[in-house]
Amino acid sequence: MYCGYSKACGTKGKVDGDKVEEEGEKGSMFEIFEETRIGNMVLKNRIVRSATWENRATEDGFVTDELIDFTSELAQGEAGLIITGISYVTEEGKNIFRQTGIHRDECIPGLKRLTDEVHRQGGRVAAQLVHGGGRSLVLQPAKPLLAPSDMVGEFFGTAPSRAMTLDEIESVKEAFHGAALRTKEAGFDAVELHAAHGYLLSQFLSPLCNRREDEYGGNLARRARFVTELIGEIKEAVGTDFPVLMKVNGDDFVDGGLKASDAAEMTTLFEQAGLDAVEISGGLFGPDRIPKELTRRSARKPEEGVFFLPQAQEFRGRINIPIILVGGIRALEMIEGLLSEEKVDYVAMSRPFIREPQLVKRWKSGDRSPSTCQTCGRCSLKAFRGHKLQCYRRKKTNLMV
Ligand SMILES: Cc1cc2nc3c(=O)[nH]c(=O)nc-3n(C[C@H](O)[C@H](O)[C@H](O)COP(=O)(O)O)c2cc1C
Ligand code: SF4
Repeated sequence: MYCGYSKACGTKGKVDGDKVEEEGEKGSMFEIFEETRIGNMVLKNRIVRSATWENRATEDGFVTDELIDFTSELAQGEAGLIITGISYVTEEGKNIFRQTGIHRDECIPGLKRLTDEVHRQGGRVAAQLVHGGGRSLVLQPAKPLLAPSDMVGEFFGTAPSRAMTLDEIESVKEAFHGAALRTKEAGFDAVELHAAHGYLLSQFLSPLCNRREDEYGGNLARRARFVTELIGEIKEAVGTDFPVLMKVNGDDFVDGGLKASDAAEMTTLFEQAGLDAVEISGGLFGPDRIPKELTRRSARKPEEGVFFLPQAQEFRGRINIPIILVGGIRALEMIEGLLSEEKVDYVAMSRPFIREPQLVKRWKSGDRSPSTCQTCGRCSLKAFRGHKLQCYRRKKTNLMV
């Protein structure tokens, strides 16, 4: 068993309370169904349900029974870690209609019911926190959205965004701290910051969206400064043992956007600030800007269809914290390949769990056939339009052949 810190740390041993008893061996292969830990969170396997918004909270962000039932089914499916759909840290940073809120103390009791249910099923659950930035909902048409720099809807639809003042940067950081503390109080096992897909934190990291000329823009370290400070301050607030994860773009896939080498370099700064694990994704999203990488179908050979593997390899060797890789992972053989060669420490999936919430349990029981998700993208289109999260694949199509 590994502590979850692979390659550079490579500790193999037994988890015993807060300690990992070392067995001395380094560099062995990772296995899917082995216990690992990230911070004080013990995970029963290396498969993560990547954050996927559910469109199942109330209009004002409170947890509903249907959201709890939905998450409970996932927990019964035995993924090592479930990451919730994006939860907003301030009203103005909300970006979908029936999104879960974590912006007020009043949200805590509902969230606690959700974490209790996951724990009752033996699962682990992290809350994903977001500020939508220039991708937020336009709640007050006269008020521009907040972003690192002025934008007139070049990337994210038609709503104009304006550059945040230094006071606004401080107040958004405070909103994230408050939300991280609520995450812990509500019984979550970890928190994940959403710094990918063109939301506010991702916009700060991207040279395309961040054209500031002050200490929060310019070179790589200055663009990373907002997020680096945020991680340090959150760690101070929640305590060093409470795991802080972050989802980042390995590549924006847009001309002039963030590239893998810079993203990996920035992550060394995040690690120094206290980050416990990084999830690698990609794409500066928008309703009409889903990168083709996310819509192409699974490849036939294991590993061929893993979207962001080349980017993840840029991170390997530069950082010591665990790498979680998401995007296009559909088959047990793919996962075995990625882990046995220690290319990544954990794998994450989103759409396969929409189609089959109990996929891991099925694999564990001996049915090794790949996910029947065809990466057709219909669930994304429906979810963008506000429909509830579920598989919308047309019954009669046979795209697998
Ligand atoms: C309907 C839908 C909702 C999503 N919601 C989120 C989200 O809330 N947070 C996030 O980080 N990514 C979100 N994603 C992206 C996924 O987490 C994942 O990165 C992407 O779908 C690629 O993984 P996959 O090929 O396993 O689906 C969403 C994807 C889909 C299809
Ligand atoms: S709608 Fe398509 S992409 Fe979404 S879960 Fe179903 S098969 Fe997969």
